[in-house]
Amino acid sequence: EHVLLLGPPGAGKGTQSKRLAAEFDLEHVTTGDALRANKHMETEYGTPASFMDAGELVPDPVVNEIVKTALEDADGYVLDGYPRNLDQVEYLDSVTELDYVFYLAVDEDELVRRLTGRRVCPDCGATFHTEFDQPEEEGVCDECGAELTQRDDDTEDTVRERLRVYHENTAPVVEHYRETGTLVEVEGEGTPDEVFDELATELRD
Ligand code: AP5
Ligand code: ZN
Repeated sequence: EHVLLLGPPGAGKGTQSKRLAAEFDLEHVTTGDALRANKHMETEYGTPASFMDAGELVPDPVVNEIVKTALEDADGYVLDGYPRNLDQVEYLDSVTELDYVFYLAVDEDELVRRLTGRRVCPDCGATFHTEFDQPEEEGVCDECGAELTQRDDDTEDTVRERLRVYHENTAPVVEHYRETGTLVEVEGEGTPDEVFDELATELRD
């Protein structure tokens, strides 16, 4: 199965993609994680970090290459964080076909709360939240015991810029899939379990 998960920053794409990948035996393909793992790599446009830490999109050629390589290696996949503009939609269409397109709808104030409260494990990649998903011991990863950190782009100012970039570039992507009739909109404001159940039900049908 080829699954695409769309949604604004903080909608829960990462949280749900990981669970869907595990439940349905799919590859989790995420441009955000791939770019973070190569943040300081020199490209002809500069490092990914120079765009990401400002909340801007990394140039298409860099991101397209990541997606192409990842999809080549994947049989079934859940794609998270891509496409983020209409040119990326066109590129994606040239390398694969989608079976499901989901859009996680979450209100803007809730997105800001989720992003500014997010804590991540630098060692194993697990994600937590200071209010909504607290680890057993404050500031410590449940999975591996490492000290949790905040993503560089989760400061309030950068979060606002990411949301602006989302409205300008990525909202048209959502409209594109709505118009082509493949979009399934899912209520993203329930608990992680509720959102997962809704997605899983659609996928099992
Ligand atoms: P990326 O890593 O893709 O970030 P994003 O799209 O901004 O999404 P997030 O990872 O912030 O949020 P999410 O929806 O995954 O939410 P999560 O599950 O973590 O991209 C980062 C940067 O990389 C971009 O700004 C850009 O520079 C670059 N980039 C990436 N892809 C690119 C592309 N295609 N083209 C160009 N540049 C690209 O949840 C958020 C928080 O909420 C967590 O703390 C979680 O615990 C909590 N939470 C989750 N679900 C719930 C729930 N149901 N209820 C309560 N809390 C919840
Ligand atoms: Zn960890």
